[in-house]
Amino acid sequence: MSVSAALHARLTAPIHDRPLRTRRSEDVHSAVSFIGADPAVVELLKMARRVADTSATVLITGESGTGKELVAQIIREESASRAEPFVAVNCGAIPESLQESEFFGHVRGAFTGAVERKVGKLERADGGTIFLDEISEMSKSLQAALLRTLQSGEYSPVGSSETRFCNVRVIAAANRDLVEMVEAGEFRRDLYYRLNIIRLDVPALRERKSDIPLLCDHFLQTLGAKYGNPGLSLSRRTLDTLLAYDYPGNVRELENALRRAVILCGDRVIEPEHLPADMTSDEARNELIEELGDFQAAKANAVEKFERAYITAVLQRCGGIISRAASYSGLSERNFHEKLKRYEINARSFRAAAAARK
Ligand SMILES: Nc1ncnc2c1ncn2[C@@H]1O[C@H](COP(=O)(O)OP(=O)(O)OP(=O)(O)O)[C@@H](O)[C@H]1O
Ligand SMILES: [Mg+2]
Repeated sequence: MSVSAALHARLTAPIHDRPLRTRRSEDVHSAVSFIGADPAVVELLKMARRVADTSATVLITGESGTGKELVAQIIREESASRAEPFVAVNCGAIPESLQESEFFGHVRGAFTGAVERKVGKLERADGGTIFLDEISEMSKSLQAALLRTLQSGEYSPVGSSETRFCNVRVIAAANRDLVEMVEAGEFRRDLYYRLNIIRLDVPALRERKSDIPLLCDHFLQTLGAKYGNPGLSLSRRTLDTLLAYDYPGNVRELENALRRAVILCGDRVIEPEHLPADMTSDEARNELIEELGDFQAAKANAVEKFERAYITAVLQRCGGIISRAASYSGLSERNFHEKLKRYEINARSFRAAAAARK
């Protein structure tokens, strides 16, 4: 059985008959699992586990939706501070002017509107892990202050000259190229070096397509249970469509496509019609590209398809009589014969079919 056929057989079997083929982080009490068996993923998880029990700062890079936050959670779950807080801060979602007070907190009266003392995310994460998502969007002044905290554990709430200490493990994530940003003067070089000591790159889904069936398996189980539609499977065409697609939105896009399919699928089998239109049109385009080749080859291919269909249709109409079919199509009999030979079309079978109809 080919790999694709084997995967298909597994995916189309009822879910309860199948072994759970997902690869989870080995820690049994881990609540999160990063699904994947691609060598790059196996290596990534190995690295994540190795660094989990240190206090080292980790930088996780990868395109949007590849699972960077999931990797951060795995590091936390496998570290000694798994019972301590995990505080996520999305730097891209906080206006620059508010970032420092969100991060370090502020004292009463620190600025207009600061009517109460505010506890910052760093203080909330004390003893545990802070996850700095989209660190590329961090303001320049917070970048400078963060560097100080990373080096000495010191920080000051906004509006205060008091120095405080925190014991927080920092995990940062970026989906923009920080090196480019450093070169453009948009990101502090010293902070980049400080963050880049341990770097984990999460590969794009299109670079590890062999993980798609495993991920589908996982999402059909979790989403099927969530939306009260268990026991779903994928048709062969659906799996082929999912394998052909490029996933600019990575695993998140696959997850959302399957969420939609689980909700829309009334029967047991998910068909391509249940997938978002841009996924299926991609499949059609890929098929076309595979078929096309260069212009001359593509043209020859299209001409051949047309000629075969035309000759067949005209023979049918003319009851398999070659002289009549040639005259009908405006071709010489010799030319018509040549085409029959090239396409291995037997005119006699059309005559027999016509006689049977009479
Ligand atoms: N390997 C995986 N196994 C299981 N689920 C995954 C995997 N990778 C990603 N996901 C799921 O895909 C979604 C997106 O993952 P996540 O939020 O970690 O991506 P991200 O890289 O942080 O994205 P962004 O850059 O947009 O913040 C989540 O629902 C996550 O659970
Ligand atoms: Mg994220």
